[in-house]
Amino acid sequence: MSQLLLQNRKIVLAITGGIAAYKTCELCRKLIKNGAQVRVVMTEAACKFVTPATFAALSHHEVMTDVFGDAEGIDHIAITNDADLLVVAPATANSLAKFACGIADNAVTTTVLASACPVVVAPAMNTRMLINPATKANLKTLQERGFYIIAPEEGDLACGDSGMGRMRNVDDIFAYICALLNDHVALPYQALPPTCLPSPQEPAALTQTKLLPKSHGAGLKIVITAGPTEESIDPARVITNKSSGKMGYALAQMAATMGADVTLISGPTHLATPNNVKRVDVTTASQMLDAVKSQIGQANIVIGCAAVADYRVIEPMSTKLKKEETGEFLTLELVKNEDIISYVGHLDEDRPFTVGFAAETDHFEENAREKIANKNLDLIVLNDVSDPEIGFNSNDNAATVYGPNGIVTSFGKMSKVKLADLLIELIIAEYKAKKHQEQDDSKSK
Ligand code: PMT
Repeated sequence: MSQLLLQNRKIVLAITGGIAAYKTCELCRKLIKNGAQVRVVMTEAACKFVTPATFAALSHHEVMTDVFGDAEGIDHIAITNDADLLVVAPATANSLAKFACGIADNAVTTTVLASACPVVVAPAMNTRMLINPATKANLKTLQERGFYIIAPEEGDLACGDSGMGRMRNVDDIFAYICALLNDHVALPYQALPPTCLPSPQEPAALTQTKLLPKSHGAGLKIVITAGPTEESIDPARVITNKSSGKMGYALAQMAATMGADVTLISGPTHLATPNNVKRVDVTTASQMLDAVKSQIGQANIVIGCAAVADYRVIEPMSTKLKKEETGEFLTLELVKNEDIISYVGHLDEDRPFTVGFAAETDHFEENAREKIANKNLDLIVLNDVSDPEIGFNSNDNAATVYGPNGIVTSFGKMSKVKLADLLIELIIAEYKAKKHQEQDDSKSK
């Protein structure tokens, strides 16, 4: 990946009064390290948490804290004139309310009101403030006006409580900014608790037109399997696994964000359907196979992220098993399910670019190499599911991607959303490279 993701980008970083302001120091440092030119604006309240001198040192520029002040060459009207993005982090409930009402009573609110570029806000507040209908309505208003909202996350809050409302971590905010400035216009944070924010929806058409999507995925049809499958034992019991669907849904969201036509074939999950994604719900492995078969016509890429049950009960009971009748031991007779991604990988005609996942707990490389060969895959994404912090149901993941000739790349621990962004970009690039190669080969014949 390029080291300077934000080369020559001009970003105005606005800070309002919350404890999360300390994290914005790291964000500022990271933006600059990645090539951005950063100018900082702070409210008076923000200066109580971190001094302007800190941000002046980090950004190498004087900080604007006062509309009537005389910070070197900047004022609240001009500061965003040539900026690519205005990022408010943290954005307090109070400031969000002011943005929604068009109030301009300090350096940040005035800058936002006069902004000539798109605005991203990263809210940070106590949970009760976040779920207050007033805040929700303000966020909805801002979203409808084209503000980008980076949903807060769950965690310890400054007030001593723990809950939803903590400002998103710096890596996620950074990834979001990079995604906005480099590729996408849609919001990647689909899995928002519905109580805390307006229901996820496409941002209103941008009135600020500086951001145009690159749309790597435009014209591509991508089919993704996600979540677990469930195999019946009896009407009350199933064989399933710990997959939450988060990784697969994040992939679907990012693929759609990049302009692809995405079909998500999902086992049972509690997740909302990502924006602009067609979802097909299934329960069992054989239903998932049927759904894949019916959806892969014209698919360019198929990604098998689902944790498919390898076996099913040969004859599920039609009535509930009674332990009084089964006794001390119960033996279930299982039969192997067909391997879905292997079926796709071995198609003779119209075989799509085929990507599997390998969920491993040991002998990682060996198993990944075996699976890519046996299932005839173009890529396999190896992840360690023995670590609860990056495996099933976690918000983070880490992965090593293998091609038929060995390791393609590795991604360290990061949010599944960010990993999905990187993986989809990689998968599309590899798909296109393979297509070009095939075209070159057929020309030279
Ligand atoms: O859903 P989350 O909680 O976010 O967790 C994400 C994940 C850990 C489930 C995901 O990242 C992952 O690793 N998915 C693959 C899980 C799996 O079944 O791995 P496997 O090594 O058993 O299978 C290898 C590949 O074969 C996978 O692409 C799988 O989808 C596919 N397979 C397996 C069996 C089968 N009958 N049909 C298949 O298509």
